[in-house]
Formats: sequence, structure tokens, C-alpha cells
Amino acid sequence: MNKSQIPVAQKEVLSLLLDDHRKVKKLFKEFEDVTDAAKKQSIVAEACMDLTAHTQIEEQQFYMFLRDQDPEAFGDLLDEALVEHASAKDLIRQLQEMKPGDDLYDAKFIVLGEYVNHHVAEEEDELFPKIISKKIDLRELLPAMVQMKEDLLAENTNA
Ligand SMILES: [Fe+2]
Ligand SMILES: [Fe+2]
Repeated sequence: MNKSQIPVAQKEVLSLLLDDHRKVKKLFKEFEDVTDAAKKQSIVAEACMDLTAHTQIEEQQFYMFLRDQDPEAFGDLLDEALVEHASAKDLIRQLQEMKPGDDLYDAKFIVLGEYVNHHVAEEEDELFPKIISKKIDLRELLPAMVQMKEDLLAENTNA
């Protein structure tokens, strides 16, 4: 999805989510060429932290708002999204208890990347275009989403 084509009523919120998607995709890509254990661990830690914040913001703000606006149009898509988030969160929890070199460490991160790619494609190719075609105005959501992101990231840096 190209940001320049997003109408103003959806632009900032969808751009924020698209930026998150791009950032984690880059981390998964970067992981492919890394052999150093410490570097692997730092990529995994960063991706897990980013994904945890992203899924939480979507679930508690973005998805909730959409369901509220038009349950008929968005209910099924959002139900699927929640199930996909749950699978991702399960792998994230497992990875956070592991270290590089453990059995299946790389495989779990790679499969997490595949889940994320699939889920991100559904959001960007189905959900976001539907929001635009239904002319759902997302602007009132932005401040709360930005605030929540700051809070979650601050929590993580202090942890
Ligand atoms: Fe999502
Ligand atoms: Fe997303």
C-alpha cells in the first residue's frame, strides 16, 4: 500500500501502522544474514517488543474502533486478525524465554516472520482498503494511538 494514495481521513493512522509493518519486516529480513548470536538476540528482542506494542495498539484502539463503527463490515476480518495475533504472540512468548543456539530458535523466529508477513498482507490488502472505501474517518484515533505507543515503548526501555 502506497502512503501517498491514502485519503486524509485515514492517512496518519494507517501511515503509523504501515511504518510499524515496514520496520518489523526489515528486522526479519536482516535476521536472514546474521550469524552472530548476540546480534540475533538483539534483532529478536527488538522485533518481539515492536510486535507486542503494535498488536496491543491495534487490538485496544484500532480494531475496537472499527468494530464499533461497522461491525457488519469489519467483524469477520477482525476476528481473523485476532486469531493471527494470538498465534504470533504465542511464538513471541516462546522466543522471549529462549536464546540463540537453543533448539528451534531460528525456526521459531523465521516462522513468526512468515505469520507476520501473511497478517500484514491481509491488513494492507483487505482491511485498509476497506476502511478507505467505507470512508471511515480515523483521525480521532490518532492521539490515543500515538500516546499508547510512547507509553509502551517507555515501559520497555525502563524494563
Ligand atoms: Fe494486526
Ligand atoms: Fe498491523
